[in-house]
Order: sequence, then C-alpha cells, then structure tokens
Amino acid sequence: MSNVRFPEGFVWGGATAAYQIEGAAREDGRGPSIWDTFSRTPGAVFQGHTGDVACDHYHRYAEDVALMADLGLRAYRFSVSWPRVRPDGTGPVEPRGLDFYDRLTDALLDAGLDPIVTLYHWDLPQALEDRGGWTVRETAEHFAEYALAVHGRLGDRVRTWTTLNEPWCSAYLGYGSGVHAPGRRDAGDAFRAVHHLLLGHGLAARALRAAGAETLGITLNLADVQPADAGSAADAEAVRLVDGLHNRIFLDPLTGGGYPADVLAHVSRIVAPDFVRDGDEKLIAAPLDLLGLNYYAPTYVAGRADGTGGAAYPGTAGAVEFLPPAGPLTEMGWSIEPAGLARLLERVAADYPGLPLMITENGGAFPDTDLDEQGGVADADRVAYLDGHLRAAHEAIARGVDLRGYLVWSVLDNFEWAEGYRKRFGIVHVDYLTQRRTPKRSARWYQEVIARNGL
Ligand code: FCB
Repeated sequence: MSNVRFPEGFVWGGATAAYQIEGAAREDGRGPSIWDTFSRTPGAVFQGHTGDVACDHYHRYAEDVALMADLGLRAYRFSVSWPRVRPDGTGPVEPRGLDFYDRLTDALLDAGLDPIVTLYHWDLPQALEDRGGWTVRETAEHFAEYALAVHGRLGDRVRTWTTLNEPWCSAYLGYGSGVHAPGRRDAGDAFRAVHHLLLGHGLAARALRAAGAETLGITLNLADVQPADAGSAADAEAVRLVDGLHNRIFLDPLTGGGYPADVLAHVSRIVAPDFVRDGDEKLIAAPLDLLGLNYYAPTYVAGRADGTGGAAYPGTAGAVEFLPPAGPLTEMGWSIEPAGLARLLERVAADYPGLPLMITENGGAFPDTDLDEQGGVADADRVAYLDGHLRAAHEAIARGVDLRGYLVWSVLDNFEWAEGYRKRFGIVHVDYLTQRRTPKRSARWYQEVIARNGL
C-alpha cells in the first residue's frame, strides 16, 4: 500500500446524466429531446437502443441515492433534463419535472451527498432543434431562461452549478460529424453551435449569479493533444490547430481572452463568423468559480499534407493525421494513458491560472466478464484504470494544481449515447432486464479510497 493522500476536503463523488439513466421518457409532461429523435433514426445508435427506460432512475432514484451513500460518495453530479422542465423549450415550465429534481436534491442532502447540477448534458428539447437548435442565437437565450427556472426551484439547496457538459461534443459531434444528436453534418453549423453554446453558458452564468448561485462552472472535455514526433515542426503545427479547435476555442473566451486569432482565422476559411456579435465575448467571459474537466484518453496528431483529418475537426483534412489509439485500450477503443490527465491538469493550471479545477468525469468501459464467487463483476481492469488516473491527479496536485475533487464516470452502467447499452462504464452493474443494481469490485475499491482519502 502506497502513501497517496489527497488534500483535506477533497470532493469524492460520481456522475451521471439525465438521458443516460432516467428513462420515464414520456412521463409527467416531459417533451421529446433531440436524443429521443436521434435514437429512433435508423442506424444512429447501436441496435436502435433508446433512453426510454434506461436505468429507470426516475422511479428508482431513492434506491440509487441510498447506494451512493452506502459507497461513501460525498458528491453526486447529475444533469437536469431541459425537456422535463420546459417541454417545448420556450413555453410554460412543467412543475412535475421540477418536482423530480426537488425530490432528488432532498434525498441527496438527507443522505449527506452534495448535489452538483449540470444544466445541459445534451438533451435539447426537439422543439428548439426544429427552430435551428444550437445553430441559432435564440437557443442560447432560451437556455438562460430555463437555467433560471431550475435555479428558482433548487437554488435554496444546490450550491454548485455547471452550465454545459462538454460543448465540444454538442457542437462538433452533434452538428459537425453527426455521430451524436441531432446528427447534422455541416462544418459551419458546428462553429455556429460552438458560439451559441458559449453564449448560452455566459447568459445562464450571469443570470444564475444575479439570482444568488454560489459556485458557478462549466464542464469541458479538454484534449491532451500530443505530437506523434516531439521533434517535428509539422506535428507541432498540427497540435496547435487541433488544440485550438478543441481547447482554446472554449478556454480563451471563457476566461476573458476572446476567441484566439489563429482559431478565428481557421474558422473564417470555413464560414464567415458573422454570428459572433459585438459584446458576445464579454458575455461569454462571465466569472467562473470552477472549471470541470472530463478526461478519458489523449489525442496524438501528426502534421501531414495527405492527412485525412477528422470529421469532428472541420478544416483538418489535408493538414492533420489523427493517430490510431495505441497501447492498452478500453472497451471504447480509447487508449489508457493516465499521464495525459496529469499533463492536461498542469497545462490548464499554467495557461489559465487562478481557476479551481474539478475532474467532473473519468472512468472506463470494460467488458465486465470476470465474475467473483458471488457472481459480482470483478473488474480489475476498471480498478487499475481508476487507480492510475487518481495517481496522475495526485501528482498534478503535488505539482501545485488546484484540483478540488474527482467524480467517477459513472455511478451506474447506462445508455452510452451512440453505443447504446453495450458499453458499460458503471462502478455499479445494472441488469437492464430486472433493473437490479450490483456494486462491482471497483465500487468497493472506490469506497475504500474515499474512506482513507487516498490510495
Ligand atoms: C463523456 C460524456 C458522458 C459519457 C462519457 C463516457 O463524453 O459526457 O455522458 O458518455 O463520455
């Protein structure tokens, strides 16, 4: 046993998202979201899986909260479903939708867990997508209205608010490569979506701050972008481009620097950025108390004139080759490289100083085929993944990074977007036929980590 101890007050918790676990897709006035539509589009999601039932958390939340409390979790990051709260995106608020999050918040607080609310984890009301979705400015304004409605109900008990989860995915996968809802494939739309998501964040953050929210943040899936060859100037150029499209396009405006000139020049070659209006960058730069960071795997790139680029990185064909994942891989085919997490944390701390950080997601999908004597999942590979990444996080802290907490993805096996239910990230196994929850070995391991505040 080694001596890896985390700082006093380090937040240990877990994360989920509404569409991935709630189910009850047509209950209590919930409207359709873009994921309800997308999951019904032939070929879009593995074997046509949908979130209609998912983990049935909408009805089983009390059991799930009790389970998290039993594991010793101190914080729980969940997302609120916009179409539950405002079914058509713009019209009346549905009180029954808010009632659910009210009950969930009370249950968490009663069990000693701190609720961390994410306002948008990808489930845009379909009615708003029909009016242009994130490619139009009005969606940002409606997001701020919805955020205020949620705060109006939960703001007396919830201290930590994050506006968006991974706007990179919403914009580039949703509107660029089309592998996520709403499944559009248009580079210009991807950039329009980036901007309107950021604007929505800024408007919501300002509104929530004025309403008295204590801790305000956003969660980004920043990429640890590395060159194939550290000595190559062409590869360094590819890193600059990909880092700009993935990281700096979000981080710079969020922290007050506006869009980076090189990124704006790249975007302008694809679409006229007339959607960026005077004053927008100021709105986006609403003060942040916390930056949430989701990390799974690094990204390696080479600079090549014959590079195929990436559909989620508009304008990189003919300039960038994304290297296939190497080394040990998770079930998602993502490489396991904890050092990438330490690099990322240190880079963000160095380039954007003064911003408290939290790992709002980290975890791995594994086949989960090894069983123990009781028939439980003996997921040594997931334990090793989490252990390695926690050590990397600890190293970053030791080097001065202001890291406040760690939330494992995920508490439960759940609907893994385009992969449906076939990829399991949970530390708790879910039998989708019976909805029975069974902690895996990783859950018991995590329980001990939390109890001793270290490894
Ligand atoms: C992240 C998402 C989360 C989950 C994990 C595996 O990109 O935020 O919902 O799907 O990946």
